Amino acid sequence: MSIPHFRSSDVPASAPVPVTFQTLQQKKEAGRPIVALTAYDYATARLVDEAGVDLILVGDSLAMVVMGYDTTLPVTVDEMLHHTRAVRRAVRRAIVAADMPFGSYQSSVAEGVANAVRFVKEAGAQAVKVEGGAARIELVERLTAAEIPVIGHLGLTPQSVHRMGGYKVQGKTAAAIGELLHDAHTLESAGAAMIVLEGMPREVAARITSEIGIPTIGIGAGPDCDGQILVFHDLVNLSFSPPAKFARQYGDAAALFRTAVEGYRRDVEDRAFPSDSESYHLAKEAAAALAVPAIPRRA
Ligand code: KIV
Repeated sequence: MSIPHFRSSDVPASAPVPVTFQTLQQKKEAGRPIVALTAYDYATARLVDEAGVDLILVGDSLAMVVMGYDTTLPVTVDEMLHHTRAVRRAVRRAIVAADMPFGSYQSSVAEGVANAVRFVKEAGAQAVKVEGGAARIELVERLTAAEIPVIGHLGLTPQSVHRMGGYKVQGKTAAAIGELLHDAHTLESAGAAMIVLEGMPREVAARITSEIGIPTIGIGAGPDCDGQILVFHDLVNLSFSPPAKFARQYGDAAALFRTAVEGYRRDVEDRAFPSDSESYHLAKEAAAALAVPAIPRRA
């Protein structure tokens, strides 16, 4: 008797055309928005991919939304690899990018390259994301030379939470705007394939987007970026924290899951689940055999 089960071989046979960084570059040039979203596990990555998202980021935000930490800082390379592998197994069309967690590239360029290689080799990531601007130039150059596409990340960089003194919008003064523009240009010159712009005034993100040749993906950076990214759990109300101003909710998975789990609990308590039709049955002969008195044990 085979029991239906959700598994990777259920992926539909017809293969979609995979997205590449060339596709994203063409989208920027044609003014067609790039759609990106985070995902951290097989089931959600599969839904996100099948919905036609261009890029799936296994973000270190998983430290907060999946693991329950207060910041992104504690998640380790091994934990990120574990989640990236799960996402990789689900995705057939989108680019899968992995976030390099805090501590995996700050100590030395060599360590950053070695960790990035792990994401590609051990988890099947097609790109890595690193936070920061001028300080990351050598790393971005080395990764690019090693054929690993790099996504930069500027503005509100969550791994800098202690330096920033909280999760605050960045790029509000002339000096800060100048620095962001300089960082964006130097990341592009170093070979970055695209840049995430997070938590900055719309006008600043628009200026960076129009000045650089590679795509920008905004989160809390207004509508003028080349694309947008959100955290999956914010999109479906699973974050258990008050939503940020930019985090539009497109569904209420919390309500859906709550209703489902409460219904299940009630049904089990009331012996309404499982029903007879949800039970497996013995064949007639076996049932008849069961009615025979127990066979005496041999001495
Ligand atoms: O970790 C993350 O999810 C991110 C995106 C929000 C850009 O860095």
